[in-house]
Amino acid sequence: MRAIVLVGGEGTRLRPLTWRTPKALVPILGRPLLEHLLLNLKQHGVTSVTLAMTARNEAIRGAFGDGQTLGIDLDYAYEDTPLGSGGAIGSIASTWRAADGGPWAEPFLVVNGDVISDLDVSAMIANHRAKHAVLSLSLHEVEDPSPFGVVDIDADGRIHRFVEKPKAEEAPSRLINAGTWVFDARLIGMLDPTTFNRVEDGLFPRLCADGEPVYGFHQSAYWADVGNPDALLRVNLDMARGAVASPAARAGAAGYEQGIYVDETSTIEDGANIEAPSVIGADCVVRAGSTVSGSLLWDGVTVGAAAEVRDTILATGVSVGDGARLERSVVAHHATIQPNASLQGERIDPAEAGQTDPSQAPARSGTPSSSGTP
Ligand code: GTP
Repeated sequence: MRAIVLVGGEGTRLRPLTWRTPKALVPILGRPLLEHLLLNLKQHGVTSVTLAMTARNEAIRGAFGDGQTLGIDLDYAYEDTPLGSGGAIGSIASTWRAADGGPWAEPFLVVNGDVISDLDVSAMIANHRAKHAVLSLSLHEVEDPSPFGVVDIDADGRIHRFVEKPKAEEAPSRLINAGTWVFDARLIGMLDPTTFNRVEDGLFPRLCADGEPVYGFHQSAYWADVGNPDALLRVNLDMARGAVASPAARAGAAGYEQGIYVDETSTIEDGANIEAPSVIGADCVVRAGSTVSGSLLWDGVTVGAAAEVRDTILATGVSVGDGARLERSVVAHHATIQPNASLQGERIDPAEAGQTDPSQAPARSGTPSSSGTP
């Protein structure tokens, strides 16, 4: 089975973290988001994956290469300007050829690159074939469907209509598009590969309106759209608690079972207090007398003595001064938090120093390299 994974978005909602790290590479339990996704696909027999990228995301190729270390054949397709899901899928799949040189004839998978789930992809593909569907969509049940695209679905799982952002009382279901799709090969010719278009707005509703067999696949698997910092923190903490079975989780990490993940290269000094759930990446130092609780530390982070870090994300290379207190904050790469500073609900941009890729830097000037008021 072939798959296209869409990773060409801007990741604007994940800023300031995505100024330096593309969304696909943000860490979840010490491994890039995309690695979790690719290994779940591999587990279900996907052997060949094309990453649909925009040129900015060259770092992703650096991280995964030809996919050999993951045991997947990976290749990369670039859009000069973003083509949206429809343009991306159309431009890639229209180049595929069957073994006899004829047009591609097999169903294929398309996956949003920012979704973490333990979806049973094999069962979804089997269901797609059994229903003779032209398109299948994984679905996820939410409490409040009003911010989402919701499906109107019958007891057999057939989708009749999509309703965008319905009022809660008018929603036809609480099931939303969860970002993993099985496409029949005949859909390839129905996509415009040259201009920006989104299948969610164009192809999908059109297929339903034309009475084509579009099916939903709903399974109570773990699902999270890692679209913003809150979601990134939650997924990390959920995974530390073992709420999602990811083949990429490093089960050997200290304290993993107790909801605390600490990379073995990090130093937690005596008298430092790590409260579950928390995730601490590689080469971090958490000094004596400090508390880290409900938080995510990327790599190379230092938390000073008697500091408090609660419900917070600290990106690579962040340094928190002695006695500083941080709550519900997001601190981007290499920023320095002054001793005894107090931050609540703040977003701190990356520091100028340590900047490795100027094209990923904030467009505005005056980026703080240190922050916080004592
Ligand atoms: P925001 O800017 O925060 O909305 O993030 P995003 O655009 O990265 O995410 P969105 O939820 O809009 O997109 C879902 C998935 O599709 C993500 O994995 C994106 O990387 C990817 N994606 C979005 N637009 C494009 C595009 O034009 N081309 C390609 N190849 N991928 C895209």
